[in-house]
Amino acid sequence: MTSTVPYPHAPAAGALDRCRLIDLPRVGSERGNLTFIEGGVHVPFAVERVYYLYDVPGGATRGAHAHRSLQQFLIAASGSFDVVVSDGVEERVFSLNRSYYGLYLPEMVWRDLVNFSSGSVGLVLASRHYDEDDYIRDHDEYLRAVGAR
Ligand code: TYD
Repeated sequence: MTSTVPYPHAPAAGALDRCRLIDLPRVGSERGNLTFIEGGVHVPFAVERVYYLYDVPGGATRGAHAHRSLQQFLIAASGSFDVVVSDGVEERVFSLNRSYYGLYLPEMVWRDLVNFSSGSVGLVLASRHYDEDDYIRDHDEYLRAVGAR
């Protein structure tokens, strides 16, 4: 079924340009390194939720969805993985492989997380509590929502 009703959460122009890597503070000493993140300071939203991905089998893809209103910040807390972001037209790939920077994702961006290294840990900060209604998991629905189909 194809809907002709304008989607209420179509992204602002330049959604992909709003995806960006953000460097985080590093406090280093002979005792090791420390990085911290303050909501609204180092990431452009108040953090309401934290979750992490781990024990991801080789070859697995995480993500494969967009969020209607959620903003997120992704960090490779250990190891590495790639984030493929798309606005339905263009695609960009961000490689995360250090724990002192991360990727900011605004709302309405499709993301696939791929190429997890063995033992990697993906740390995610989110602007809202978990809400399944905020997900768009169907790619065709996403393409219609952003006017790409
Ligand atoms: P999902 O966000 O689809 O994971 P990923 O994008 O990493 O592949 O979530 C996977 C499952 O976990 C899904 O059934 C919902 C559940 N979940 C929660 O219950 N709370 C959460 O905060 C998150 C992120 C997921």
